[in-house]
Amino acid sequence: MIPKIIEITSEETLNIRHRTMWPNKPINYVKLENDDQGRHFGLFIDGKMVSVISLFVKNKAAQFRKFATLTDYQGKGYGTMLLNRIINIAEDEKLHKIWCNARTDKSDYYAKFGMILTKNRFVKGKIEYVVMKKVLN
Ligand SMILES: CC(C)(COP(=O)(O)OP(=O)(O)OC[C@H]1O[C@@H](n2cnc3c(N)ncnc32)[C@H](O)[C@@H]1OP(=O)(O)O)[C@@H](O)C(=O)NCCC(=O)NCCS
Repeated sequence: MIPKIIEITSEETLNIRHRTMWPNKPINYVKLENDDQGRHFGLFIDGKMVSVISLFVKNKAAQFRKFATLTDYQGKGYGTMLLNRIINIAEDEKLHKIWCNARTDKSDYYAKFGMILTKNRFVKGKIEYVVMKKVLN
């Protein structure tokens, strides 16, 4: 029952991305144009993948995108494990910062990881976003 985090392909993220984030859109909507340039991670419980996150590094900054935990598995700390892993990877690779386009209603959650709000806000698909970042040492 110990959760395991494994590097996966972008194709393997699609089902959880789709079901959790944009179930009413076609599956292509959750594909990213630069998915092949990212690193993708899945958290597995008893061999079942329940949470995914994707990491994109550019100019010593890491952006994480398409972070999602299957609805039935949310609120159990799995997302926290995955996000902490990503932050550790960024620190190990001596990147300068980690950032994301956060759904505004998730900003308190990201604040728990030391991420701070920036002034950049936007709306996409009727959802409000704010750019959040964490400067790394
Ligand atoms: C955001 C998301 C990925 C978080 O994944 P998760 O697996 O539910 O994350 P966690 O269980 O670690 O944390 C969720 C909550 O459970 C709480 N929690 C419960 N048990 C916990 C535990 N054992 N350890 C840590 N946190 C725990 C956390 O404190 C957190 O509370 P908060 O939302 O009030 O801050 C998930 O909610 C999701 O997929 N949402 C829909 C898609 C989405 O919005 N993605 C993010 C776009 S920015």
